Amino acid sequence: MDTVVSGIRPTGNLHLGNYFGAVRNFIKMQQDYNSFFFVADYHSLTTHPNPADLNTSVRQVLAEYLACGIDPEKCTLYIQSDVPETAELYLLLNMLAYVGELERSTSFKDKIRMHPDNVNAGLLTYPVLMAADIIIHRAHKVPVGKDQQQHLEMTRNFVNRFNHLYGVNYFPEPEAFNFSEELIKVPGLDGSGKMGKSAAEGNTIFLVDEPEAIRKKVMRAVTDTGPVEPNQPKSESIANIFTLMKLVSDSDTVEHFESSYNNCTIRYGDMKKQLAEDMIRFIAPIQQQIKKFFADTELLHTIVSHGAEKAKESAAITVNEVRKIIGIKKF
Ligand code: ADP
Ligand code: TRP
Repeated sequence: MDTVVSGIRPTGNLHLGNYFGAVRNFIKMQQDYNSFFFVADYHSLTTHPNPADLNTSVRQVLAEYLACGIDPEKCTLYIQSDVPETAELYLLLNMLAYVGELERSTSFKDKIRMHPDNVNAGLLTYPVLMAADIIIHRAHKVPVGKDQQQHLEMTRNFVNRFNHLYGVNYFPEPEAFNFSEELIKVPGLDGSGKMGKSAAEGNTIFLVDEPEAIRKKVMRAVTDTGPVEPNQPKSESIANIFTLMKLVSDSDTVEHFESSYNNCTIRYGDMKKQLAEDMIRFIAPIQQQIKKFFADTELLHTIVSHGAEKAKESAAITVNEVRKIIGIKKF
C-alpha cells in the first residue's frame, strides 16, 4: 500500500485554499492509503512566533483538521516536533542539499523579498526539512496545492542523490498529488493570485469566518465591467469567481451563471451573493466541529499522544536504516 504524508504550518487559521488544496485530499486518502498527517510546527519557527501563540495555533490547526474529517482512527495524526527523528534526518539531508539550489527556490526568493530583515538559515533549508518530513515515512504521495510543486521536485532531487550516492534504492520518489484532478490553486478574492494566510485582508475565506464576514469579503471581490458580447473570454477576476463557485456550489448553480455570462445577462452582485451563501453553507458544519474539538483538551491530548507514538515508530525505522546506510554504526 502506498504511503501518504502531508502537513500544514500552524501560522493561522485554515482557509478554503488549505481545504481544497490539501485537507480535502487528506480526508479522501486516509481511507485507502497508509497516511501520515501532521502540524508542521518546526516549519513555523522561521517567523519567530511568540511561544503562547504557537501553542494556540498548533491546537487550532489540530481542531480544524479534525473538524474537516481527518480521522485519527484511519491515519496517523501528529505534531511534527513530537517526532524529533525528523530533525536528525533533516541534519543528514542537509549534507546533500546544495546552497545554490536552495537559493534558487521560488519560495526562498519570495520570502527574502518580503522579509529582508529575517533571512535566517531555517528559511534557506526549509525545503530540506520538508523533504525530511516526507521521506521519514518513505512516502510515495504528498497531497499539497500547486504552490508546493517545486518543493516536491527538490525532495525528489534529494532522494535521488541519496539513493545514488549510497548505491541503494531505499527511498521512493514522492510525487505531489491531488486526489481528483490536477494540483489546484484556489484563487483569492482580489482578482489575482492565490488565497493565502499572508494575502491582503479580505482576500481569504477562513473556515472560522462568521457568515457576515464571508458576505462582506465576497461582495467586495474584484469583478470587471461585464461581458459585452456573447461567449466573451473571462477576465482573470471573473474566472476566479467561477473557480471558487465550482468548489462550493452545486453544478446547476454554476451552469446558471455560466450561461448568463455567455448571453451577457449576468449580474455579478447576484453571483457573489450566491457564492457567499454557498460558502457559508459549506463551512457551517465544519465550523461547529472546530469549536467542539478546540475546547476538548483531553481528547486532543489523547489523539496527538497516540499519533506521536505511531509516527515515531515509523520514523525510527527510517532513521536507523539511514544511519546504517551512511556508515554510522556502533563499534
Ligand atoms: P498559506 O499559503 O496560507 O500560508 P500554507 O502555505 O500553510 O498556506 O499551505 C498549506 C497547504 O495548503 C499546502 O499544501 C498548500 O499547497 C495548500 N494551499 C494553501 N493555499 C492554497 C491555495 N490558494 N490553493 C491551493 N492550495 C493551497
Ligand atoms: N511547506 C508546506 C507549506 O508551506 C508545509 C509542509 C511542511 C509540508 N512539511 C511538509 C507539506 C511535508 C507536505 C509534506 O504548505
